[in-house]
Amino acid sequence: MKIGFGSDHTAVELKLELIQHLKEQGHECIDYGTYASGVRMDYPVPGRAVAEAVMKGEVDKGVLICGTGVGISLAANKVPGIRAAVCSEPYTARLTVQHNNANIIAMGARVVGTELAKMIVDEFFNAQYEGGRHEARIRMIADIEKEYGASWEKGAENT
Ligand code: RB5
Repeated sequence: MKIGFGSDHTAVELKLELIQHLKEQGHECIDYGTYASGVRMDYPVPGRAVAEAVMKGEVDKGVLICGTGVGISLAANKVPGIRAAVCSEPYTARLTVQHNNANIIAMGARVVGTELAKMIVDEFFNAQYEGGRHEARIRMIADIEKEYGASWEKGAENT
């Protein structure tokens, strides 16, 4: 699988460990930054970069890491078609693929250690979306996105 990675300055080391770990399993890994842990990088920047790469099909899925995983996932989830889930343990990482068809996993470098993070990404990338009863719910999420996207466009016409 082709996987896009992004992190803010708090999570560069963990991101590099996970890239190495997933490369060893034969995945192709692309790092969208940030690259230096000593230089502040606001999490919406890498969150958006990886989310756009997933949306455009440049990569199949994404891994995003900031201090808690929350800020970077919030940014990613603003990109249409993105379902980014913050996970701090493997069970949720598996279920968010099986049920929510998540296309990005987010984690907190200040929350999980390296070995737990490896287990989390392993569950995420080995899980399969189950479809079936979950399909209608995924469509309902997309409908919210479409509805509000359309109303923002309408609002912009009036400015
Ligand atoms: C950076 O200090 C921190 O706010 C960020 O990494 C993240 O935890 C935000 O959600």
